[in-house]
Amino acid sequence: MSPVEEKQSTRLPAGVPPAPPLKWAGGKRWQVRYLQPVWQPHAHRRLVEPFCGGMSVALGLRPQRALLNDINPHLINFYDWLKRGLRLTIRLEHDPVVYYSHRARFNTLLTTNGARTSEAAALFYYLNKTGYNGLCRFNSRGVFNVPFGKYKRIAYASDFLAYKGVLGGWEFSSRDFERLAVAADDFVYADPPYDVQFTKYAKEGFGWDDQVRTATWLARHPGPVVLVNQATPRIRALYADLGFRLQRIRAPRRINCTGDRTPAEEVFAYRNLDPAGAMVNGEEI
Ligand SMILES: C[S@@+](CC[C@H](N)C(=O)[O-])C[C@H]1O[C@@H](n2cnc3c(N)ncnc32)[C@H](O)[C@@H]1O
Repeated sequence: MSPVEEKQSTRLPAGVPPAPPLKWAGGKRWQVRYLQPVWQPHAHRRLVEPFCGGMSVALGLRPQRALLNDINPHLINFYDWLKRGLRLTIRLEHDPVVYYSHRARFNTLLTTNGARTSEAAALFYYLNKTGYNGLCRFNSRGVFNVPFGKYKRIAYASDFLAYKGVLGGWEFSSRDFERLAVAADDFVYADPPYDVQFTKYAKEGFGWDDQVRTATWLARHPGPVVLVNQATPRIRALYADLGFRLQRIRAPRRINCTGDRTPAEEVFAYRNLDPAGAMVNGEEI
């Protein structure tokens, strides 16, 4: 088995957490080693992720109880089926004809009340793995329009039973984060879309107002909170002013189009956490 296939396999030895099943922008798998010592003393709590995305943090920390939310309903529908024990029977081939036929079928399901079916979940997985860059993009009429992706090879999984046990005690929801029912003693890990300070473009439609909304919502939570974001001056000021403790982290950055390999700087903002537990890994700012 090649290393890629090994990573994708759902038949894993006991105790090995399954890898995130989808490609999802902004994955934070690399943060798990920083978060582990912070989370461990609180592992009896429920983990709440208002922006769960590719689920890499929850799969890395493996809480018994979790509430995982993301505004993307197709992502959450896929996780709902993963929890029930998903097996795919659709054709899984890296072929443009198969891709465009599956894409058309997915779009038909969206317009015929089929968005919550296991077929939609299966197609969403296939489109995520096979479409350009794992993007999830819709046009103004709500039609999924990501083109075919060119890859050397794709290691598709068709049996996701390994996730069933792990996700057993986890709840999923798809709504704006402010509408989540969070309990006072929940442990919240929040990874919103990045603040992009120097462009007008708001990533995933998430502008500065949403960053402020996130910070003020998190500041009201009486339980432990960890927030991660790009360490822009205004993000640091926003969280520092609300009484969070900040820690700087160097993120691994993939090579970009200008050949720049400098790591991006990210910030962890903590609240209601034991300082010893929270600060073991990095530089306080
Ligand atoms: C940076 S990603 C999270 C990545 C995740 N931590 C991981 O490791 O894969 C941010 C997520 O926030 C979601 N999102 C954007 N706006 C939202 C909102 N208002 N409420 C809830 N989720 C939102 C996006 O769909 C996206 O999946």
